[in-house]
Amino acid sequence: PVLVVDFGAQYAQLIARRVREAGVYSEIVPHSWDAKKILEKNPAAIILSGGPASVYVDNAAHLDGSLFRAGIPIFGICYGFQLMAQSMGGEVNQTGEREYGRTQIERVGDSVLLDGTDADQFVWMSHGDAVISAPEGFTVTARSAGAPVAAFENTDSSLYGVQWHPEVLHSDQGQKVIENFLYQGAGLSPDWTAGNIVEQLVGQIRDQVGDRQVICALSGGVDSSVAAALVHRAVGDQLTCFFVDHGLLRAGEREQVEDDYAANMGIRVVTIDESERFLEALAGVSDPETKRKIIGREFIRSFESAARMLTDEKAADGLSIDFLVQGTLYPDVVESGGGEGTANIKSHHNVGGLPEDLSFDLVEPLRTLFKDEVRAIGRELGLADKLVQRQPFPGPGLGIRIVGEVTKERLDILRAADLIAREELTKAGLDQEIWQCPVVLLADVRSVGVQGDGRTYGHPIVLRPVVSEDAMTADWARIPYDVLSEISNRITNTVPEVNRVVLDVTSKPPGTIEWE
Ligand code: XMP
Repeated sequence: PVLVVDFGAQYAQLIARRVREAGVYSEIVPHSWDAKKILEKNPAAIILSGGPASVYVDNAAHLDGSLFRAGIPIFGICYGFQLMAQSMGGEVNQTGEREYGRTQIERVGDSVLLDGTDADQFVWMSHGDAVISAPEGFTVTARSAGAPVAAFENTDSSLYGVQWHPEVLHSDQGQKVIENFLYQGAGLSPDWTAGNIVEQLVGQIRDQVGDRQVICALSGGVDSSVAAALVHRAVGDQLTCFFVDHGLLRAGEREQVEDDYAANMGIRVVTIDESERFLEALAGVSDPETKRKIIGREFIRSFESAARMLTDEKAADGLSIDFLVQGTLYPDVVESGGGEGTANIKSHHNVGGLPEDLSFDLVEPLRTLFKDEVRAIGRELGLADKLVQRQPFPGPGLGIRIVGEVTKERLDILRAADLIAREELTKAGLDQEIWQCPVVLLADVRSVGVQGDGRTYGHPIVLRPVVSEDAMTADWARIPYDVLSEISNRITNTVPEVNRVVLDVTSKPPGTIEWE
């Protein structure tokens, strides 16, 4: 792999993604690893990330200097660039001039790293220290107002560095610079493709599972779908999926899951209807946090009883279920400890306390992948676009989209309104433009209306369409008035309990995407 050494800023994941986008497999490792440990990974190349500190302060994060002389192509970025400079005998210090944000750089001379990029280009800088002089044997290839040495390289030793952040989109030709390092500097080829990934993962799943039995809890979301499809490709009918219908699903969702998997993909899916259990547990509760806790607790109970039922069923045939599939992604792995020592945790750490007699080993086929790769291999596996591109839907479902107590009648009202909103947004071709559109029933609010000749006293429905990159922040989506009008007319004409449709025009922050 290409190893991305993480020096503690938030950039390592971004770098690893860009390397994968260039078709080369990458992994993130912590900077605390010594040279021996890094070399054991047999890296094809190493990229040193940025970091928040100064390289010349005491206890600054360092890299074993012998690595720079191990003959492995290395690309230092920002802090990593300064480390390389310092380690190879260059000078790093404060110039008194901080550069932050979009900055113009000027290329000087020939460069492998900057090959095919413009002589003047804008890049994203974020540094107080600068490399004052390059180490001996290194050629300076770019400079900026605040960085006399903004990039350098030593092609004989395959060492390259830039002061800026080529991994961020604000660096206009950043991806090209990363590709130059990978293809020319390190001589790698782009062979990390969806097809190869599938082949590799299928092989790994077969090795892990052998001829034993696997179960998977489907949520209908992208990650569990792709994980299930991969495992099915690998071990066929040794996989049984189950789907817990908690009664808080949207109209048609259960049937859709059954169709997608059972009918189209030939996967065995057992649907467990637990809606009565959830509704009973939620009776009389309107506090959002309490609702969430109840739904979480009941979900674990349902999961347990489903797993137990399937385990008993298999036992009757003399088989045992040894594995549970989880759709864990690489960012979760990195964020919970850098991929070290998390490989063999038992399922109960993930699904909140399974009883002892239900302990499975985990199959986590997506644990090396980023979300965009999961979508790409989903397509490669033949999953329908509507499944792969699905908008997020919260685990607690419509339970957190009814403001007030959750009852069957209220769920039916909300389902009817939600279906209309979804149909109209799809018809208008807005599915891919918006991130999602929660439809919320204000069950405890009533307002006066007039319909036909009569006065009504109904409930408002809130439309909450948002655009977002990652759900951490969001803006309200500017849906065309005609589309809003059609949604509003259809809802108020066909859902008798609703006499008003309102639009939420709040960004996040301060509002969250969901209302509860
Ligand atoms: P908020 O409301 O926090 O939502 O802005 C951010 C994103 O997360 C989704 N969401 C959830 N997803 N379980 C989930 O799987 C949950 O409990 C949950 N709560 C919110 C929400 O739909 C949005 O995409």
